[in-house]
Order: sequence, then C-alpha cells, then structure tokens
Amino acid sequence: MAKDHVQIFDTTLRDGEQVPGCKLNTEQKLVIAERLDILGVDIIEAGFPVSSPGDFKSVEAIAKLVKNATVCGLTRSVENDIKVAAEALKHAVRPRIHTGIGTSDSHIKFKFNSNRDAIIERAVAAVKYAKGFVEDVEFYAEDAGRTDNEYLARVCEAVIKAGATVLNIPDTTGYCLPDEYGAKIKYLKENVKGIEKAVLSCHCHNDLGLATANSIAGAINGARQIECTINGIGERAGNTSLEEVVMIMKQHPNLNLDTGVNTKLLYSTSQMVQEHMGMFVQANKAVVGSNAFAHSSGIHQDGVIKNRETYEIMDPADVGVTESAIVLTARSGRAALAYRAKNVGYELTKLELDTIYPKFLEYADTKKEVVNEDIHVLMEQNNIKLS
Ligand code: KIV
Ligand code: ZN
Repeated sequence: MAKDHVQIFDTTLRDGEQVPGCKLNTEQKLVIAERLDILGVDIIEAGFPVSSPGDFKSVEAIAKLVKNATVCGLTRSVENDIKVAAEALKHAVRPRIHTGIGTSDSHIKFKFNSNRDAIIERAVAAVKYAKGFVEDVEFYAEDAGRTDNEYLARVCEAVIKAGATVLNIPDTTGYCLPDEYGAKIKYLKENVKGIEKAVLSCHCHNDLGLATANSIAGAINGARQIECTINGIGERAGNTSLEEVVMIMKQHPNLNLDTGVNTKLLYSTSQMVQEHMGMFVQANKAVVGSNAFAHSSGIHQDGVIKNRETYEIMDPADVGVTESAIVLTARSGRAALAYRAKNVGYELTKLELDTIYPKFLEYADTKKEVVNEDIHVLMEQNNIKLS
C-alpha cells in the first residue's frame, strides 16, 4: 500500500532564527535555504518579511533562489504584513503566505483585548486579503494547543471558507501531551466542515520535551504537514526537530507515512546549521548528536561488534554518519579494545589481550577517552608490534 506523504515544513530560518544568538546574514540564509531545497523539504519558511528590512531582503533572495520547495513568509493578521510578505515572495516559483492570530482565551484577552467573534473576523479578513496575492495561504491559530477545541473548529471552518489551504495548529507553548494533541487533530478532522479542502499542520514547541511526540501524534491522527527545524532549534526549548520526525517515519513503516527528505543528508545539514548559527548540538541529541551512534560500555560494545543491530535501531549511513563509534573508556571491555587495536594495526593474540587489558584499564581510569595515539603508546610500552 502506498504510504501517505507528510509534508515537511522547515522553519529553521524563521522560528529557528528567532533565537537569541542565532542571527544569520542573508548569505548564510541562502546557503541554508539551498541545502534545505536539496534535502527535499516541501516548504521553507524563509522569514517574517515585515519584521525588518534585512529579513525582507533575505526572504526575497530565497524566493528567487529556491526552485523546488514552496517558499513561505510569516505575517500577523495585519494587512501591511501581508502586503509586504507578498512583495518579498513575488519571485518565488511556489509562494505561500502564512498568516494567523492567537486563538486561546489567554491570547484573545491579554494580547488582543478582544473577544472570540472579533478574532474570527480578523482571521477571515487576513486570509481573504492574502488570497488576493497568492493561491497558497496557510493560517495559524496561535496557541491552538491551549485553545478549546470547539472554538478552534469554528476558527478553522471560517478560514477554510475564506480560502486557507493549510491549517496550522501550533502548540505554541509546548504544553500539550501527545494524546491530547493527537485528539485535537482528530477532533478537527471530524468536526470541521470543509476540512477535506485543507491540510492540517503540526507546529509543536518543546517546552516539556514533547514536540516530536506531539507532532507524530498529530500525523497519526491525520495531520499531513509537520513544521520543524534542523537540530530542533527555536524559541525557548525549541521546535520539533526535523531529523527526529523524518527518521521516526522512516524507521516505523507501520505508520504508513513518509517524507521526501533525503535522510543521508541529515547529519551534514545538522553540522552546517550548527556552524552557521553557532548553536551547538548536544552530544546525546537523537539522530545527529556526536554520541548518537557511539558505544562506550563494555556490554553494548561487545553486542555492536558482533552485530550492529543489537544496540542500534538505525543504520548510521542512513543519516549520513560514516560508521558507529566504539569509544574506549574505563567501562570498555576486551572485545572493544581488540576491535580498536585491530583498526589501528594490531591483531592481538588472546595472550596479548589478557596482558594488555588490565594495563589499558589503569590507563583509561586516568582519562575520559582512550584515543588511537594512546593505543599505540600502550602497545609500545608492552612491546606489542604492528601486525
Ligand atoms: O509557535 C507558534 O505559534 C508560531 C506561529 C507564529 C506559527 O511560531
Ligand atoms: Zn513557533
């Protein structure tokens, strides 16, 4: 059975770049946008054009450069934002305007000092205005995660009628539990008149570490677009991580969902974004962290050396990592020492291994990690020659 395509909407250059210290210049944004297009994402959110002349220029340059992906610009439900975004996007092969407004009671009361009906009117007016510039209009119901489902359904119905083609249901504050977020998407699928004319989109923040789980719950319940960033960068604790959702769909064929992302480019893309943004990827980050395919305890190393699949559920080559790493530490066993010694040219006999292993442990206790040069020193000290 053919899998359902889940569109990948990358917002590294918009929600990701909003983070303090992550500022990129136009040149850097172009390099990243070009890579995202090659990676195979469906939509690139290039920026928030009205926010500054620099952002306008970047969105305009990305719109001219990108040939495959849809290029999207963010706006508030404000006519001038929409007009400026349309101008920035006018050279895009596939332009999209992403407009919206807060729909939770908290946003309606404190941000807008307004009421539910007036918010729907503003949402509808924004979508209609955007439709005057582009066919592809995405609407976001900001703080949808904390918006009551019945009202959210009313908002969605009204903006679909006004012409919205994608409905973004952001868990802006990262508050939802996966069951709750999945149920929200299901509720909208079942209760919004005209929903078959629009794509539901997940946009989850990671305040409680649930962004990826919530996005997958959304997709399982019928969303067909996921908004995410490389390395999960973004406001506060970040956004859904692109590499995680893509690999979850790849590694779980029973979900029957797939993406157009070339997973072999995930690691190098992660490194590229890390370098340009100066936001370092934590070592234990899923999929792209430096320890994601590294094994350091003796029990795990012994298993991986016998068969990689004992402790790895993904082939590192599938995400562009050349090979699994067997890291030598004081927790490593004989199998790991023999394996690493062999890699640098020493075929140890059983006797040699028995002799050198206790000395290796003593040495390893003094260091965080035993590297190749240390192996050579140990071998020389014990008169073991290269094979
Ligand atoms: O988190 C959010 O709600 C957003 C919207 C502006 C789409 O980033
Ligand atoms: Zn966001």
